[in-house]
Amino acid sequence: MTNIIVDHERCAQCGICALVCPSGIIDAVDETHFPQVQEINAPRCMNCGHCEAFCPSQALLLDLRPEEKVPLPTDAGTISPEDIAFYLKKRRSVRHFTRDPVPRETILEILDIARYAASGGNGQPVQWLVVHDPEKVRRIAGITIEWMKGLLNTAHPMSGYIPMLISAWDQGHDVVCRGAPHLLFAHIPEGNPIASVDATIALTHVDIAAPAFGIGTCWAGFVAAAAMSYEPLQKELGLPAGRKSAYAMMFGYPLYKVYGIPRRKPLEVTWQ
Ligand SMILES: Cc1cc2nc3c(=O)[nH]c(=O)nc-3n(C[C@H](O)[C@H](O)[C@H](O)COP(=O)(O)O)c2cc1C
Repeated sequence: MTNIIVDHERCAQCGICALVCPSGIIDAVDETHFPQVQEINAPRCMNCGHCEAFCPSQALLLDLRPEEKVPLPTDAGTISPEDIAFYLKKRRSVRHFTRDPVPRETILEILDIARYAASGGNGQPVQWLVVHDPEKVRRIAGITIEWMKGLLNTAHPMSGYIPMLISAWDQGHDVVCRGAPHLLFAHIPEGNPIASVDATIALTHVDIAAPAFGIGTCWAGFVAAAAMSYEPLQKELGLPAGRKSAYAMMFGYPLYKVYGIPRRKPLEVTWQ
């Protein structure tokens, strides 16, 4: 149960905290009333932190590890429409990597950014498994190929092009992990119906943040599919009990640079 700490010296009693609280649990604020949450309403707090983030006089703290609050430097995080457009349009799936390992500290910096991704009810159900050892990545690719072999001549939607993938693998091409040095798994609690969306959102944050650190990513669809159902791969991953892989992503330092922006389908929008 969380409550709020209000610095009465600083509070301008503007009431924005009460207006932005998505749970509507901060009592109406005026010249004679400071923000407060009734004890009975406190359990409805999602710990989203909007009350403190939107407070113009920074007078309010969520009483949840208050010492961890990070002040936002003036103008930090602003980006022009042109810059964000080029940055995002330039993002590409990277399938060729150098052999240089990405330092653990850099990976942690990127995952730390992904902590701020949206999640249903601010549940923050996503945790991470980083396969940092390239040997293990290779082993996971091999296990994924074994999984594919089991799908041959079945009605699985992938069964049509699996023979091609297996044959490429047999000829020494890593069509599964693309020779990436590292793999990232977003894992979620079993039996949480919305957590897989949260995982996709968090991974998208990683996908977007990584290039700012000079790191290339590629969603690892085959590995992710195998990890959902193939026991030998689940064993290899050894996720904590009660948690399952939601999706996976390969990453490393890109071997090639991007010099252009590819074509895409035209925008289709319906207005109502
Ligand atoms: C859910 C998902 C799974 C994917 N799985 C793979 C994969 O297993 N192997 C691969 O090489 N690319 C994979 N991709 C990358 C797509 O092929 C790529 O996003 C698409 O061709 C567009 O290219 P771009 O990401 O450079 O814009 C995946 C992408 C998504 C979104």
